[in-house]
Amino acid sequence: MVTSQQKQLRRPLQPKDGTAGIERPKGLVDALPENPEPLLALAAGHVVSARQFDRDTLIQLFRLAAQFESTPALMHLPLTGKILISAFYEPSTRTRLSFESAWHRLGGAIMSITDAKSTGMAKGESLADIAEMFNNYGDVIVLRSSEGHAVYDMLDGLRIPIVNAGNGIDEHPTQAMADLYTLAKWRPELFQGEVAPEQRIRIGIIGVPSRMRTVRSLLLLLGCFPEAIREVVLISNEKENFDAGQREELERAGLSLRVATQLDPELPDLDVVYINAIAWVGDSFESLGAGLHLTRNSPLKEGAVILHPLARGGELATDLDDTPHNWYFAQARGAVFIRMALLTSIVRRISAVMDTPEQ
Ligand code: CP
Repeated sequence: MVTSQQKQLRRPLQPKDGTAGIERPKGLVDALPENPEPLLALAAGHVVSARQFDRDTLIQLFRLAAQFESTPALMHLPLTGKILISAFYEPSTRTRLSFESAWHRLGGAIMSITDAKSTGMAKGESLADIAEMFNNYGDVIVLRSSEGHAVYDMLDGLRIPIVNAGNGIDEHPTQAMADLYTLAKWRPELFQGEVAPEQRIRIGIIGVPSRMRTVRSLLLLLGCFPEAIREVVLISNEKENFDAGQREELERAGLSLRVATQLDPELPDLDVVYINAIAWVGDSFESLGAGLHLTRNSPLKEGAVILHPLARGGELATDLDDTPHNWYFAQARGAVFIRMALLTSIVRRISAVMDTPEQ
């Protein structure tokens, strides 16, 4: 007799989200004209904040990411001989593994720190001194820390680029790039310049911009594409959602922002629903947004896509995983390719993968 477990093992493996093929990234490559200049300008620079990025640079990163995603095996391994220092002083599933997967796919080698207690930090060593050591051991650093100031403390002493992989409640710029890369594959026309009023999208963000680094960085990057966005609806049951000046900065960038406290009445009009519940509060993570959750029975618009930076909590029911609304798994998968594009640009190797003269 064949048990249900045996049946499960015999079933061919399928991507759950149905968006993991190469057609969409190929379509994005075709939709966006190539221009290496903005990527050349990223060479040897730090990546700390989403504020460092503009429209043209993001579009070229999306295009290069889509090239990587639609090319199963790279002809060139542009980072051969380069070393990544992957320093994660706070737990991570996606960010660390997708950065490391990106670097491996580009041919580089990796040194990985997954616990601050295994380094001199346990003996009180300063981040400035650790930065000085990193200069000698690797070519790029990717840093995740629960301390907002950590990446800034290292900057002065660094002679190699550092990429912020999440610093406390401050920012997570490469997560926001992965979020927008997902939207670019979903609707390339939103990133091609003028967008007709009827094509503009309404984005719902369930989260707290002042306390969630993913939301803070996402809003900053959305501010690079106001022509594609009819409205951003922030759905939150917190009293204070923005830091001083945060909302004004986004409105100056051209975003139309509205705050709502109820989720279900908004859902039928939202084209994109971004949801996150994890925030750093004091010295630990806390789940915010009690009562704001999505399930298969939520009144989602037909064709709406759900994004979530993950890790998932009770706010996102697993019964949505096998619906067409699930773009959160594609979002996590695409993070590898957007990070490949960014790392290749920082390490001055885009000439190896784009049609551009040697630098
Ligand atoms: N999206 C994200 O930052 O996930 P991890 O905490 O697992 O890296």
